[in-house]
Amino acid sequence: MDIKGGFCLKGRKAMVTGSGQGLGKAFALALAGAGADVSIVDINMDKAQLTASEIVLTGAKAVAIKADISDPGESRKAVEETIRSLGRLDIAVNNAGVSPPISDSVDITAETWDKTMGVNLRGLFFCAQAEAKAMMPNKYGKIINIASICGHIVWPKFQAVYSISKAGVIHLTRCLAVEWAPHGIRVNSISPGVTMTPDLFPDVPPVFLRKAPLGKTANVRDIAGAVLYLSSPESDFMVGQDMVLDGGYTLL
Ligand SMILES: NC(=O)c1ccc[n+]([C@@H]2O[C@H](COP(=O)([O-])OP(=O)(O)OC[C@H]3O[C@@H](n4cnc5c(N)ncnc54)[C@H](O)[C@@H]3O)[C@@H](O)[C@H]2O)c1
Repeated sequence: MDIKGGFCLKGRKAMVTGSGQGLGKAFALALAGAGADVSIVDINMDKAQLTASEIVLTGAKAVAIKADISDPGESRKAVEETIRSLGRLDIAVNNAGVSPPISDSVDITAETWDKTMGVNLRGLFFCAQAEAKAMMPNKYGKIINIASICGHIVWPKFQAVYSISKAGVIHLTRCLAVEWAPHGIRVNSISPGVTMTPDLFPDVPPVFLRKAPLGKTANVRDIAGAVLYLSSPESDFMVGQDMVLDGGYTLL
């Protein structure tokens, strides 16, 4: 995939969680296309290695790291390994996320709650913590959290736990942004609308298309440009904001 924006990230060192496939993979390829070296962090090492080798084929540097980001110890190690391999951490995209099948809240189990929150919110928090600690000595860094339109609106098919986790990501982003801005670390988030990725539940696009003003779902390129912008110095005055890229869905 050849994703290039107008933003130059030459010499920057980036880490993307959940970059073995889907949006995370597109973000990693886009960052490499803009000149960054990238660490590909995923629970699935085969997929991480595939993304890394696609990047290496383009002439950029990439390293694949296996980590389950729901374990804070593994996230910390992933950051350490990124720094060992790339030398520093300037940009971190906290993208890894899971979505449970549609279910009425009366049927949600504690296991589903814990798994979803454990990756999407608790896991993301401890990734951000490890990333910020690594960035603080450099007095500069960019942390980009991947939320969702479900953190803003109520999805017409029942998705309470996923939606709460993403609403949490949006507000966590604001809290961390205020805490870490004095250290030169900009924390922002992105809320994609429905984006065509390999494991997207087939019943999701028709619900989105029922009222999407643009009449289409997103592809990963539609979202990757925002990651490039938030990774680049051009967005240095943006602090704690959520960029909604949804073709206008949440306006209605
Ligand atoms: N696709 C969409 O329509 C859409 C819309 C809004 C938000 N999002 C969000 O964007 C992100 C990526 O979505 P996607 O559709 O590309 O997902 P995906 O399921 O296609 O890919 C997720 C990747 O994360 C990895 N992963 C899962 N759990 C992990 C863990 N515990 N530790 C490390 N890696 C883990 C998976 O192996 C996979 O490679 C998610 O946070 C998702 O909630 C997606």
